[in-house]
Amino acid sequence: MSTVREIFETMEYGPAPEAPDLALGWLKEHQNRFHPFIGGRFKDASNAQTFASINPGNGQPIATVTQCGQAEVDAAVAAAAAAFPQWSALSGHIRARYLYAIARQIQKHSRLFAVLETLDNGKPIRESRDIDIPLVVRHFYHHAGWAQLLADEFPGYEPIGVCGQIIPWNFPLLMLAWKIAPALAAGNTVVLKPAEFTSLTALLFAEVLQQIHLPAGVVNIITGDGSTGELLVKHAEIQKLAFTGSTEVGRIIREATAGTGKKLSLELGGKSAFIVFDDADLDSVVEGVVDAIWFNQGQVCCAGSRLLVQEGVAQRLEQKLRVRMESLRVGDPLDKAIDIGAIVAPIQLQRIEKLVEQGKAEGATCWQPSWAVPQEGYFYPPTLFTNVEPAWQIAQVEIFGPVLVSMTFRTPSEAIELANNTVYGLAASIWTENVNLALDVAPKLKAGVVWVNSTNVFDAASGFGGYRESGFGREGGKEGMYEYLVPSWEGHVNAGLSDDAKPENADRAVRRVELIPGPSADPGVDSSGTGIDRSPKLYIGGKQVRPDSGYSFAIKDGSGNYCGEVGLGNRKDIRNAVEAANKAASWSRATAHLRAQILYYLAENLATRADEFANRLAVSPGHSREQAEREVTKSIERLFYYAAWADKYDGQVHPVPFRNITLAMPEPWGTLGIVCPAESPLLSFISLVAPAFALGNRLVVVPSWRYPLVITDFYQVLDTSDVPGGVINLVTGDPNELGRVLAQHDDVAALWCVGAKALSEDIERDSSGNLKSTWVNFGKTRDWFDDRQAQGREYLRRASQIKNIWVPYGE
Ligand code: NAI
Repeated sequence: MSTVREIFETMEYGPAPEAPDLALGWLKEHQNRFHPFIGGRFKDASNAQTFASINPGNGQPIATVTQCGQAEVDAAVAAAAAAFPQWSALSGHIRARYLYAIARQIQKHSRLFAVLETLDNGKPIRESRDIDIPLVVRHFYHHAGWAQLLADEFPGYEPIGVCGQIIPWNFPLLMLAWKIAPALAAGNTVVLKPAEFTSLTALLFAEVLQQIHLPAGVVNIITGDGSTGELLVKHAEIQKLAFTGSTEVGRIIREATAGTGKKLSLELGGKSAFIVFDDADLDSVVEGVVDAIWFNQGQVCCAGSRLLVQEGVAQRLEQKLRVRMESLRVGDPLDKAIDIGAIVAPIQLQRIEKLVEQGKAEGATCWQPSWAVPQEGYFYPPTLFTNVEPAWQIAQVEIFGPVLVSMTFRTPSEAIELANNTVYGLAASIWTENVNLALDVAPKLKAGVVWVNSTNVFDAASGFGGYRESGFGREGGKEGMYEYLVPSWEGHVNAGLSDDAKPENADRAVRRVELIPGPSADPGVDSSGTGIDRSPKLYIGGKQVRPDSGYSFAIKDGSGNYCGEVGLGNRKDIRNAVEAANKAASWSRATAHLRAQILYYLAENLATRADEFANRLAVSPGHSREQAEREVTKSIERLFYYAAWADKYDGQVHPVPFRNITLAMPEPWGTLGIVCPAESPLLSFISLVAPAFALGNRLVVVPSWRYPLVITDFYQVLDTSDVPGGVINLVTGDPNELGRVLAQHDDVAALWCVGAKALSEDIERDSSGNLKSTWVNFGKTRDWFDDRQAQGREYLRRASQIKNIWVPYGE
């Protein structure tokens, strides 16, 4: 008789197929032909082009879907715009009830959704049933709560308007939920485009909206490929765009929306590190790797696709992994005992195959299990690359398939360096039994999500989103709600964008004339009445340095007379300033208490010299002596304000429904560029610099071009207030030119600009290189004396990005 052990070892899995009948029945009910959902109805688009939706599990077509064109996109946007006034005027409670009803209705039909998702996408039914759909439901429940609490939790904010949302095919319904739930909770209306490979669950969702009687036009679903997406991106009446997909398309969207006033959030690609220290529990690690890279066939933006292992355990772990890989099962996605399903489409399969071949050609060792994948359908086996060099393509490019590359490290700092050696910054996971080590490493990783001893865990209460070229903005949690709101003082982003709104004389042509190179008539004398001219230079790395150009430009007083000159900074000066800021990286780790102390010290030193600064300002354009005094006083008050905030703007602990604490920590961007407006030269400078400084950023600042003398005087205040060299760098000159250099610089992580409308557009477009986060004013003026507009949490929020660190507990 066989022993239990023998049975265990020889036991073959029998098939455990999920019945597709209900989902196939639903398709049949629609004659397998689907139309876009516009204004609460499925709009017959029989004349439009169509495309087939294929079941990746067997390569067979399952539906015909409309390729929406301009007419459908226009109709959908018009429906959303028409629905906006009423929907946004509803109480939070009523909107909460709709969101709650959506959650309930999806829950009631969860099996239908799961099976349809698997048929359309090829993901294992186990995942769509146990992960995707439950998370979708949770997302709508959670955001029903935000709708209810909107007035309490987001005072001073309002909805944006019509949101265009473009989603990928890897988590079709989940990405829909991540986009639609917060948009509706905040009071916006939506036009959403699912990916062309996976439109079906979005259309089933549209039926749910009909069933719960969501007002017509609040949500519209248009189907189609990238060209439909492009029409949506370019539509003038879209006020916010949310995109998840490839970095390449994210970049195109950044450029296409530049200067339009559309608010943008991008959730893009990744090459996330999975870091294993030598004290980690290797058996747990193996299961972690399975979840990291073989979940959803590796088609996960935050897949742990780079395995970084401490040298001493690398061989042992690789051996364990090979054993585990041998036992993974690839096959029919509807089989409940399958680990890995089908790749979404032939084009993705070919892309994976090509990158794997490239990895072999580069010299890496490729290992795959002994068994073959099914021939019918689009399957790829789990794959492990070892002997990989960090600079090789397979270690840098997002493969988006079940392919893991493994590298080794010796020390924690080497692990951090390797992990950060990528243009992306979406996620990372850390495996160690030493919690001190994990919590020391987590803040040093440039990634929006860090999982400790876990991976690929998600929840609606916790924000998700990337650093660097993985995009900007967050989805989920309180932080995600801000993506669908604007401060009331900003008004609706497209409103009032007229040329009249730009600061006086801020037109580019005028400024070129104004910035005439010196020296002028009498360079030795300073007509401002403050005595001998101090020939201010630039301020870089804590020192005054001559501008590279060797030019200065003349500054005029309020009567148009010469009153001094300052250095004319150029591209090279900005480069030096960014370098100095990068070298001052330790500032971002300084204690909040220290940052507060230095801000108080700045205020104190400014107060000591208040008269001198008021004298300086009193002769500047548009200032009386009284106004000048007011500006100095307000600047001191604002420094106090941010000194107060420096050690109080803290994070949250998100209550996720697992045995986990999720720490949402605001982190500084790193090197932040700031282009100041012409007006209120001291106060606008302080209003922008102080919050960014308070949260630990290192700054490269272009002060007011019209009257920078008050800022060059400020060098001495910086020198006497213990501001570490390189933390605040000042480059005077033409904001049009310098702002663009900052926007193009890859080592600048974020950029704020208050200036002319044309400059906002240039900056948004130029920022697409490293996809830096930008905050621009589209030429709208701000009253720097009005606390509502010129200070507050919005500034602090913009000065930081949230990192969510998941720390499990319990044995
Ligand atoms: P993609 O970025 O082209 O597609 C994502 C969505 O954008 C789809 O709905 C598509 O129709 C739409 N789209 C495409 N071009 C557009 C345009 N010019 N304007 C507006 N919308 C547009 O991604 P694709 O081609 O499906 O996959 C290619 C690679 O992108 C993958 O191999 C993977 O590396 C990456 N990717 C990353 C995702 C993520 O979650 N971060 C998701 C999907 C793909």
